[in-house]
Amino acid sequence: MRSALHFILNGERIALQDVDPRTTLLDWLRETRRLTGTKEGCNEGDCGACTVTVTRLEGGRPARRPVNACIQLLPMLDGAAVTTVEGISAPDGRLHPAQDAMARLHGSQCGFCTPGFVMALHADYPNGRRGKAGVADAVAGNLCRCTGYGPILA
Ligand code: FES
Ligand code: FES
Repeated sequence: MRSALHFILNGERIALQDVDPRTTLLDWLRETRRLTGTKEGCNEGDCGACTVTVTRLEGGRPARRPVNACIQLLPMLDGAAVTTVEGISAPDGRLHPAQDAMARLHGSQCGFCTPGFVMALHADYPNGRRGKAGVADAVAGNLCRCTGYGPILA
């Protein structure tokens, strides 16, 4: 039996020994890794502020899914690749298209929800352009109290 937990975080190999199995991915990201772009809102899987993406092999192909980090326990990540909002810009610093569109089209006001929306869109990005209905579907699990959603869908 293995005592270590292995996964990839933003391209970095992670091996954790004797981790408390009750540790959530959100707490570990924010408190241990200081990756505070992933926000804590409801802390019970309802608001989407803590959205990250998790990639696993499905049918031999990588499948990227949005995940609420507040209800994801670290042992659930063994063998997966986790990406946070800090890990999606290009190596030369260019923004991910979801970040770029959010900034250009004023999809962010207070900004608290923004990383979660961006990561939900990052998860959906490999599916290609899908129009407003598709975007609405992709961000259905994310709440924003400021924008009225119009600029985000734009
Ligand atoms: Fe609200 Fe995780 S903090 S879904
Ligand atoms: Fe403030 Fe969405 S921009 S909660």
